[in-house]
Amino acid sequence: MILVTGGAGFIGSNFVLDWLAQSDEPVVNLDKLTYAGNLENLASLQGDARHVFVQADLADRAVVDRLLAQHKPRAVLHFAAESHVDRSIHGPEDFMQTNIVGTFRLLEAVRAYWSGLPNAERSAFRFLHVSTDEVYGTLSKDAPPFAETNPYEPNSPYAASKAASDHLVRAWHHTYGLPTLTTNCSNNYGPYQFPEKLIPLMIVNALADKPLPVYGDGLQVRDWLYVQDHCSAIRRVLEAGRVGETYNVGGWNEKPNIEIVHRVCELLDGLRPRADGRSYKAQIVHVQDRPGHDRRYAIDARKIEWELGWKPAETFETGIRKTVQWYLDHPDWVQHVQSGSYREWVQRHYGAVAA
Ligand code: NAD
Ligand code: TYD
Repeated sequence: MILVTGGAGFIGSNFVLDWLAQSDEPVVNLDKLTYAGNLENLASLQGDARHVFVQADLADRAVVDRLLAQHKPRAVLHFAAESHVDRSIHGPEDFMQTNIVGTFRLLEAVRAYWSGLPNAERSAFRFLHVSTDEVYGTLSKDAPPFAETNPYEPNSPYAASKAASDHLVRAWHHTYGLPTLTTNCSNNYGPYQFPEKLIPLMIVNALADKPLPVYGDGLQVRDWLYVQDHCSAIRRVLEAGRVGETYNVGGWNEKPNIEIVHRVCELLDGLRPRADGRSYKAQIVHVQDRPGHDRRYAIDARKIEWELGWKPAETFETGIRKTVQWYLDHPDWVQHVQSGSYREWVQRHYGAVAA
């Protein structure tokens, strides 16, 4: 049994679906269901006894203690976070609470549980912390990509809160010996991503005939990884990562934002042409830049490749095509997210799951 936090979010729900597609090891899924948590993502697991969903805040020590004692997981995979940079700029409080205080409380609960395990289970136990490349700050145009040894230089409230959580995880390993693993991944894209992040926002706005807002000159560079490749990296690190280590995860796909937006438009032009025959590119508008906007992220993923033999399966071209097709094939999911009715799903389908 494994315990996952944030398993109703974008990456967490992809991870839970992939995990149960490949293994019968059950998953306890602890998620607060903030605006970013969507149980519709896990609708295919309805009635599946291998998935136990619990709606709770990871900072709620009593609930986490009870879940650990009851389910005795062999590993905890920590995905839960406030994750959107723009939201962190407008309201950083929740980011400090969940990403820092929440991670601290979780570490303390896990430490107490882990300390009480019999020897063999204690040494086999793992705490895997899912983090981001944004902790490293920004790169100049020609700088080498982020390696695990780069200094932490977070620039947004989101990145600072994730950096703090990484430091807590590191300290809990060094001080208490908790067997931790940390992954720092680049920008993910794929099915079930909330349409506030660049790629899904562009797809749903294009289809709704709304503007496609590109911040500033659109020449900011990100490294993009298809979400299932991130999930396979996490599984691999859990399986074979060296305790106390961090692993950078990336797709070797550095691209400026404007190029991403153009590619999304071109794919939609082919798959779902606009009624007037013009390209979706006509909907692009350049808007005011994000304050403190990091110019470039890039990941050196050689450590995970050399040590653990992990490589992404998708190229950007195959991944973006699948992603655009997924959003076209799931208009109900998009509509429920946009109208907010996905939040009623818990009541309708799960009833009293709250802890
Ligand atoms: P998301 O915002 O889609 O999902 C976050 C999930 O955490 C939601 O289901 C939400 O309900 C849950 N959650 C939030 N606060 C909680 C709390 N206090 N208690 C319990 N659950 C809570 O995020 P995501 O994009 O799936 O990211 C998952 C993790 O991966 C995060 O830690 C993020 O920092 C990291 N990450 C994301 C990316 C990316 O491109 N999306 C890249 C690298 C790393
Ligand atoms: P985002 O998906 O928010 O991820 P992050 O900020 O964590 O990298 O944004 C990806 C890039 O796209 C980032 O450089 C900001 C830019 N962006 C836009 O240009 N327009 C948008 O509407 C959004 C949401 C992002």
